[in-house]
Amino acid sequence: MLRQTLCAAVVLLFALGVACTPSRRSSAGFRLPDGDADRGQTAFVALQCNSCHQVSGVDLPAAPSRFAEPVVLGGRVPRQITDGYLTTAIINPSHAIGPFPLTQVSVQGQSRMPDYTSGLTARQLADLVAFLQAHYEPYQPSREYPTYY
Ligand code: HEC
Repeated sequence: MLRQTLCAAVVLLFALGVACTPSRRSSAGFRLPDGDADRGQTAFVALQCNSCHQVSGVDLPAAPSRFAEPVVLGGRVPRQITDGYLTTAIINPSHAIGPFPLTQVSVQGQSRMPDYTSGLTARQLADLVAFLQAHYEPYQPSREYPTYY
């Protein structure tokens, strides 16, 4: 009996160990270098992110708009937005389309945001994320609020 219990415990520990091993796509260990929000704002305009986006509470220079309705970034969100979420949104936008009307922001499941994988430096990415983080305001979620993030 004792032997069986010990065996079961060993099997359980092994299973837990395997379950806790991060997969290749886990975000464990992901960490952006610290960014500078002011430089991020400059990069946002230089890269013409403002041709599709407004940022809540920021007066950005006008850019020829590519959409009838700009996609607004920042503002009140139900929970803390992670750097990982923003990084993925910027360099792999079709991975998870944001909480916007789908017909406005995607075509056949693909985000209408351009591919920035070769047009951005890691420095610009860290600064853009710092800039955007400074303009999100997380608040306590109400029960009815959908969980996008
Ligand atoms: C041609 C228009 C266009 C340009 C230019 C553009 N985006 Fe986007 N962006 C979109 C659309 C459409 C979405 C919503 C669909 C999605 O989630 O990918 C989006 C979504 C995002 C999101 C996710 C928002 C959320 O709440 O999920 C972030 C962050 C973002 N963009 C940042 C940027 C940054 C930074 C730049 C410049 C480097 C940029 N975008 C340039 C169209 C654009």
